[in-house]
Amino acid sequence: MWAVPIATMILSGVAPRVVTVVARSSLLRAVLRARLPIGRSCRGVGQCGACRVFVVAGSCEPMDPVEAELAKRMPLGDGERFACRARMASDVTLTTGYW
Ligand code: FES
Repeated sequence: MWAVPIATMILSGVAPRVVTVVARSSLLRAVLRARLPIGRSCRGVGQCGACRVFVVAGSCEPMDPVEAELAKRMPLGDGERFACRARMASDVTLTTGYW
């Protein structure tokens, strides 16, 4: 039997939710698992920038080349990441401006 490492994400906002996902999941996957709305015009391929979220606590893996390139075109603020590209490196707490 495989032991699957997991991580927890807290989605803060008007109605906070907690979801448990496989470790290294993308932030987008966890948000969708929590059934919360999130922009994703490009369906998560790192082109539209609509999935911008704010990481309140915890950490993500460093940007991959796709996210870094997108961040050059659409700069991120402190703590912001593109949810479709950022992968959880620990338990994470996220929010957006519209939850
Ligand atoms: S969903 Fe388009 S950049 Fe993330």
